[in-house]
Amino acid sequence: MKDDYELARLQDAVDLTVLGFEDVVRALPAAVGRSERVIEGVFNLRARVDGNDVGYNTIAAAGSHATILHWTNNDGPVAEGDLLLLDAGIEVQDLYTADVTRTMPVSGTFTKPQREIYELVLAAQQAAMDVVRPGAGFRDPNTAAMRVLSQGLFDLGILTVGPDEAMRTELPLHARYTLHGVSHMLGIDVHDCSHARETTYFKGPLAVGYVLTVEPGLYFQPDDLTVPEQYRGIGVRIEDDVVVTEDGCRVLSAALPRDPDEIESWMSELFSRPAPQLGI
Ligand code: GLY
Ligand code: MN
Repeated sequence: MKDDYELARLQDAVDLTVLGFEDVVRALPAAVGRSERVIEGVFNLRARVDGNDVGYNTIAAAGSHATILHWTNNDGPVAEGDLLLLDAGIEVQDLYTADVTRTMPVSGTFTKPQREIYELVLAAQQAAMDVVRPGAGFRDPNTAAMRVLSQGLFDLGILTVGPDEAMRTELPLHARYTLHGVSHMLGIDVHDCSHARETTYFKGPLAVGYVLTVEPGLYFQPDDLTVPEQYRGIGVRIEDDVVVTEDGCRVLSAALPRDPDEIESWMSELFSRPAPQLGI
């Protein structure tokens, strides 16, 4: 449970992270034809200038690199039609860190298949956020998100069985495409309290003042023949940081848009502002 001082520091970390994401979007047109390193460099510059550092290695994954979890090589090309998955967090001077992911079209406009998958992940994230409240189980947001993702995978014809069958714990079929759980605690460590007892963490209840991530994703490997061709190579994750309140949760990272139309307007507005200088 975070006290008011800790919550203020986490909000500081998130607010600086929002600036870092804005810097990256302003620099994106100049990154096309260059490397993911440009994106990592721009974000990390903000972390070093205004914060202490990044809280973990920045994941700047363009195109199908987004389907590789924890892609931190950041040495691939950035192309106009790609999605960029940026998972990055600034750590403030007293070491609290944000952990935020946005997936955005490098061109500023989603293609139809990119938008379809994005909207499915967004619906899963909303379903997860809707169940965050004191007394809910830590894993309840995960279950809510996985149900939405499994139903969506079934509707797309990727899973041949519905959520009830796909989500059986002995053979979780959806996991081929979802790859990871939806939440972890957040604080001084990006995976805060990871040594806490199972009974007070993964199998315990949420309580007021807990800060956690809500971060569902879908990842379609470029060579996965179980996936329709138009979706292969698409990886989408949407990650926000939330604090549990008396009646639900407050999203610390709400300043970053999540709705795809809002992402496109946000990018269009940022593209019109002078970009950070990249002649280095
Ligand atoms: N953002 C990195 C992680 O949650 O593992
Ligand atoms: Mn995370």
